[in-house]
Amino acid sequence: MSQRIHPLDSPDDFPTPPWATRALLEHVIEQARYTQQLACLEPACGAGHMVKVLQDYFGKVTALDAFEYGYGERSDFMKEPYQAGSFDWVITNPPFRLAEEFVAKALPIARRGVAILARTVFIESVGRYNNLFSCHPPSKVAQFTERVPMVKGRLDRSASTATGYAWIVWEKGSSDPTRLVWIPPCRKKLERDEDYPAAKSTRIVTEKQFDEKELPLAAVHSR
Ligand SMILES: C[S@@+](CC[C@H](N)C(=O)[O-])C[C@H]1O[C@@H](n2cnc3c(N)ncnc32)[C@H](O)[C@@H]1O
Repeated sequence: MSQRIHPLDSPDDFPTPPWATRALLEHVIEQARYTQQLACLEPACGAGHMVKVLQDYFGKVTALDAFEYGYGERSDFMKEPYQAGSFDWVITNPPFRLAEEFVAKALPIARRGVAILARTVFIESVGRYNNLFSCHPPSKVAQFTERVPMVKGRLDRSASTATGYAWIVWEKGSSDPTRLVWIPPCRKKLERDEDYPAAKSTRIVTEKQFDEKELPLAAVHSR
């Protein structure tokens, strides 16, 4: 099984397929908890694939990233000062090497909650238990039943992966023990053609069309 290893200053640019963000809002966070009246921060927005979905659910979405992707504003989440309670939600797919630090920083910023998409193995580790989970247990760990393939630097609808992913959510005001929930199969329902860059159009010429001369010669030669 492959494992991602990145240098410490790597952007860790693995864009989130939009259907996986819709799954959070449709299947994980109770719908009464977010509305068009609320403000959301996406502090590691990359090329904006998560932000564009969040904009369908929140009234205001602030998009920032430490690196340049031609989307949002430049800001290093680890260095930028924020007022406590300055956003309702902080939602992102953080760089994995900084995921624990992102959550610790996001918790005081969020009035209502924090949600991160992470490899399921994020919930392992003595270090994360000691530093984060023991003092700030998430309200929900929502495991994808389907795989969420992510590819470096681009969205690829046909990619595959052996890695499991989960949404890990801290809902403010919840004192219940952490709930493990499953995100039901939903990719087919939540995925849209327009989520992906248009594939280069290729004309497929069938034997029948060729025989019956339904196409100009140039089209046939360009197969
Ligand atoms: C896994 S990608 C996710 C991108 C986007 N959130 C999405 O879901 O499509 C992680 C992102 O974190 C950004 N990043 C890395 N370190 C950062 C930091 N210190 N502050 C803000 N963004 C950072 C990277 O540039 C990259 O865009």
